[in-house]
Amino acid sequence: MEIVIYNESINELINDSSKITEIREHIEADNLVVIKEAVNKKLISDIKEYLSQIGKNSLPNYLPIIKNAPNFHRINNSDHRSYVKGCFHQFVFYPWNQDIFNFFKVFRKIFQLKNLIGKLPKDAFLGMKPEKGCTARIAFQFYPANQGYLNPHRDPVHYHQLALPTVVMSKKGVDYEEGGAYFISNDQKIHVDDFVDIGDITFFNPQHIHGVDSIKCSSESSWLDFQGRWMLLLAINKLSDNQDIQNAVDLTEEKK
Ligand SMILES: [Fe+2]
Repeated sequence: MEIVIYNESINELINDSSKITEIREHIEADNLVVIKEAVNKKLISDIKEYLSQIGKNSLPNYLPIIKNAPNFHRINNSDHRSYVKGCFHQFVFYPWNQDIFNFFKVFRKIFQLKNLIGKLPKDAFLGMKPEKGCTARIAFQFYPANQGYLNPHRDPVHYHQLALPTVVMSKKGVDYEEGGAYFISNDQKIHVDDFVDIGDITFFNPQHIHGVDSIKCSSESSWLDFQGRWMLLLAINKLSDNQDIQNAVDLTEEKK
């Protein structure tokens, strides 16, 4: 797996069809595409502060992906009902709900680039209603220090997506000491967090085996400290009743 760096802005990339083709070819070849400094660091800091307050002061609840679902946050503490086992706190936003950051406006161009990489119309799945049983979905994930992880898995590639963008929101060596996102390539783990900074976007092929190694810090921490690793997933997800697209597949031994 190659790590390919772009210093162009999202706007420049959206308007450059040869670059989009080039990125698509990298994704199809299982390379990792990093777009540097794509999201403002102050915005990321403000979002983390806002979500931490919500996380500390309201009850988490799980809600399925359905038409008109509310925004929500939930804890997944190795929940056996999940397709991929992990431990994290997740905050979910949908295009049909208004939120104070106007997230779908703020991140719209990244979704558009994702769609163009996948040879889709640039505004696909970004409307107020689900489209072909799928919707855009913004998920912030917080992996708490000394607890957070996500098992190795593959996510589905189908008519809804070819590439999956994530925004880096924490810095390894500063916010946590060990662990973080990895890809498995030729039986070797490639730790992505060693190569990226807060505000970078990574685009990858969801079928490429990936996961999150246990987040470690030397200091004690709890769910309420919000010490650990934040990231943002700009996903197109199938609705829970969509049978056409596969579910994510956990690849750990115990699940086989
Ligand atoms: Fe994934």
